[in-house]
Amino acid sequence: MTTATFAKGLEGIVASETEMSYIDGEQGVLEYVGISIGDLAKHSTFEETVFLLWNKRLPSKSELAHFEEELQKRYELPSGMEQRICSLPKTAEPMHVIRTMVSALAMHDPSPNDNDVESARAKALNILGYAPTIVAYFDRYRRGLELVHPDKSLTFSENFLYMLNGEKPTPAMAKAFDLCMITHADHGLNNSTFAARVIISTLSDVYSAITGAVGSLRGPLHGGANEGVMKMLNEIDSVADVENYVTQKLAKKDRIMGFGHRVYKAKDPRATDLQKLAKQLAEDTGKADLYAKSHKIEEIMEREVASKGIYPNVDFYSATTYHCIGLELDLFTPMFALSRIAGWSGHIIEQLSDNRLFRPKAQYVGPHDAPYTPMSER
Ligand code: ACO
Repeated sequence: MTTATFAKGLEGIVASETEMSYIDGEQGVLEYVGISIGDLAKHSTFEETVFLLWNKRLPSKSELAHFEEELQKRYELPSGMEQRICSLPKTAEPMHVIRTMVSALAMHDPSPNDNDVESARAKALNILGYAPTIVAYFDRYRRGLELVHPDKSLTFSENFLYMLNGEKPTPAMAKAFDLCMITHADHGLNNSTFAARVIISTLSDVYSAITGAVGSLRGPLHGGANEGVMKMLNEIDSVADVENYVTQKLAKKDRIMGFGHRVYKAKDPRATDLQKLAKQLAEDTGKADLYAKSHKIEEIMEREVASKGIYPNVDFYSATTYHCIGLELDLFTPMFALSRIAGWSGHIIEQLSDNRLFRPKAQYVGPHDAPYTPMSER
């Protein structure tokens, strides 16, 4: 019998190759196709970043214009989707809505199961273009507001905020949102990306793979943590209460949401970029106290648990950022999903380009040679 290594939670196991993002968890480095996340945050746009991830190089000016145009063509949902969204229970959680509607998109695709790389790219572009419209339509429908149809002259980020709020965002808000999209776009073989790769490795279909990834992302230990951070910030009345709140939670062995990471044992570089943004937005929108509470939590966590390699992750300052942009709490994780469709899709394309079915083993730890007891004797 061959002996296999068991790693709980697959920690440290390399399960696939990627050319998309590089992470050095000890040094706190994240690069997309070799370019630091800090440089992309400073100079790129979400559309350009998606092109980079999917093509493993930056686009020329005309390639970028073409990519943007193709994405804009997909802002408008296939017919029938709008009615479907507007017949959902208004109490539905937006993450359940995205998961269900991405799955439904397969039924509007005449060839949903085509898995050659070019078809997979086209399906990925469909999902990336449609997903913001799904979220914005559902949010306005549940609030009893008239739907705002997409504006194809706007960028991905501008158009989403426009459809959500009914007015074009200020350049500063659009830029802030775009930066969130860039920083969340890809991150190695995280849980939801792994889920997407596992599903596509059966040669299922792109819609199923992304539907599964959305389901994974919503968990509070993954993308759902940004909502957990905001709930925590709401529970703390003022900066003066932070010390007690955090130390009591730690004493009870509770987790502080937005801290810790399987890969990073230093501060997540995305948290560094988002922290600057959160500070600026909080000052600009009169919510400086929110940033102050976050910063104080970080200070106390640094003192208490940094020695264990627990630092802020991407979700920590994205909570303050999204709140200052004016998003409802239950839209925080959906924002992560809108951006991560880029990464999931890129990984699906990589998997299809060099596929082998994922099929690990479980180590059996139950009994052997157990008798079958007849029902009458149990
Ligand atoms: N607060 C307090 N203690 C923590 C935290 C935290 N946020 N995270 C980890 N720890 C402690 C654990 O209690 C454990 O301590 P112990 O060794 O004394 O028992 C130790 O650190 C290791 O924890 P594990 O759960 O084994 O680490 P793992 O790598 O499995 O977990 C995870 C990573 C799930 C992200 C964890 O840090 C966590 O639950 N964080 C809070 C949720 C969160 O913010 N998730 C978002 C992650 S980023 C993302 O997915 C986009």
